[in-house]
Parts: sequence; C-alpha cells; structure tokens
Amino acid sequence: VKNGLGRTPQMGWNSWNHFYCGISEGVIRETADALINTGLAKLGYKYVNIDDCWAELNRDYQGNMVPNKRTFPSGIKALADYVHAKGLKLGIYSDAGTRTCSNKMPGSLDHEEQDVKTFASWGVDYLKYDNCNDAGRNVMERYTRMSNAMKKYGKNIFFSLCEWGVENPATWARGMGGNSWRTTGDIADNWDSMTSRADQNDRWASYAGPGGWNDPDMLEVGNGGMSEAEYRSHFSIWALAKAPLLLGCDVRSMSPQTKNIISNTEVIAVNQDRLGVQGKKVQSDGGLEVWAGPLSGNRKAVVLWNRQGHQATITAHWSKVGLLVSAAVTARDLWAHSSFFAQGQLSASVAPHDCKMYILTPK
Ligand code: GLA
Repeated sequence: VKNGLGRTPQMGWNSWNHFYCGISEGVIRETADALINTGLAKLGYKYVNIDDCWAELNRDYQGNMVPNKRTFPSGIKALADYVHAKGLKLGIYSDAGTRTCSNKMPGSLDHEEQDVKTFASWGVDYLKYDNCNDAGRNVMERYTRMSNAMKKYGKNIFFSLCEWGVENPATWARGMGGNSWRTTGDIADNWDSMTSRADQNDRWASYAGPGGWNDPDMLEVGNGGMSEAEYRSHFSIWALAKAPLLLGCDVRSMSPQTKNIISNTEVIAVNQDRLGVQGKKVQSDGGLEVWAGPLSGNRKAVVLWNRQGHQATITAHWSKVGLLVSAAVTARDLWAHSSFFAQGQLSASVAPHDCKMYILTPK
C-alpha cells in the first residue's frame, strides 16, 4: 500500500544536526516562522521535523507517549496547528525499539498502532523511525510492525525509515511503504564524513525513484564545520542524488552564505525534477570526479567535484554523462547562473573541495 507521498524528495528542516536534544516548542515555532520569513518555505522547504527528545522519559498510565512537560508544555497538537496555519507540515520521531537513540524517551516497539494513532490525532505529517535499542529482535519484524500500523492509521503520514546499520535497506524499505530510507550511518559536520556518506549512498542509486528515496542523512550546511566550498559541494551532490533536502542548521540565524547555498532554485529544481532518477558518480580520477544523472526533457545534470586539496581542471565526457558524443548542448552553470555552448565534453577549473554544477540541454 502506498501513501502517494514523496513523488519528489522531501524538503524541510530537522532539529537534530544543530540542536540535538536541546529542543523546545519555542525553537520549533521560531524555525517555522524563519522558514516563512526567509522565503525558504516558498522554495519547497515545507517539513518542520522534530527529532529525538521531544517526549517524557516514560509513557503515561495508559501507555501513551507524552510530550515533554518542560520543553513542549503546549503539546504536539498545538505545534502542528501552528505550523499548518503557516502552510507547513510537522514531522515527529520515534524508534523501532524499546527506547530511542538518545535513551531519553520511549521507542514505539510493541506500541506501534497506539503511537501512530496518537501522532495522527495530533495532525503529524511525517514520521522518522529510528533503529536503536532493538531488544534483540529482527529488523524486518520491527519495521513490518510499524509499516502495518502506518498503513492502518497513518495513511497520510510520510514514512522516513532511519534503519541505519542494516546491510541492504534499499532492497526492502520501499516495500514497507517507506518514502525514504537511510543508506548510511549518521553524518557529521566535516568533509570526510560528508564525502563518505555521498559515496555510501551512491551504491544504492538504482533503488531510488518517485515515492521512495535513498537518504544519505540530513544537511549540515550552515553548521560551521565545513568551508563554503564544501557546503556548496554537499548541497549540490545531495540535490543531484535526489536525497532528501532536510536543512540541519539554525535557520533563525543563518549567514548570507548559508542562505545563498540552500536557496539556489536551479539546484533545488534538479533535486525536485519529476523524472526522479538519482544521479551517480560516473567518472573518478584520484579525487577529480564527475557525477551525473538524467533529468526530464532529455536534459542531464552534471557536477564536477574536486575532492583534491588543490585547484584542478575536470572534464566531463558526453559518453559518461549519457549524451551522444556528437551532441551539442546549452550548458547552464547553476552556481554562476550563466549559460554557454558545449559539444562532446565540458571542462572547468574547480577550486579545492568545490564543485561546478550544470544542466545540459541538447539543442
Ligand atoms: C540516530 C539517527 C539520527 C538522530 C539520532 C537521535 O543516531 O540516525 O539521525 O535521529 O539517532 O538520537
């Protein structure tokens, strides 16, 4: 059973990468306000996703999860109403185990139906379902239980599987109604982590498509651990790979550089292209890489990615990006916002850890 959601990768924000457990209803409300005020919501960033640590340590006497009384005193329903009034959507987090990964709240194992009913009654639009504290039980059994509960009581809820640590998620998560599934362990805000998540995710490209996406974890753009060039590469590759574009910075106080990267409408359009085919690494020569994939209208998206520590020229060959060798194209540079003519190949000098991103439109 499919819920019809995720025809293109989900876009929004999640609390974890910046706030970890330091969240409150104030942070969530102010983030919703900021998504509107900065114009990010209009660009597609619609989901406001609460991650771990939103609930009380234990269930109430009826077995219900209870929003943390100190940090979420108004409750989740009030927050859902608040973000819905702004045209946004609210996401929540639970876990296919006895406790969530923080250990600070219960997981949903053996409470799946009760919890999905609760989330639905609050107006929650999105569930991220994590994989800690599994009580020694099989991953398929635990996720099937939640999948069934979602089919029964959460038909309109986006289902984001966070089943990290599992060998081959892409081969079964879609069948469980997953709209996205993690292909990697957690990202950290540094170059090595980001590049390795990109490579690990690349292996599963053939499983992505409308309705279900590979998830190399959320964006770190704006959190301070990488350079502007590295964040530009991070965002470009996530967009090309049809990864969820879930912002992980504090959008209430982002720098102009951060805002400029995450607001690039031409890059976002690659991610949200209706064809929904994940772009892949197609050339690799000692850290000089070409990533590419098809777009609707016979177009191609191409990223020239310099993973070396010094300026270098990278050449994308048409045979590798899926064009006829003779094809003449208009190349649109998505970061420079300018166009030029190209035939057979495309070369550019790329700064260390930076990238160039193009859409090639055959003439
Ligand atoms: C796991 C997930 C993260 C985050 C934390 C919360 O590590 O992979 O994305 O949700 O749990 O504790």
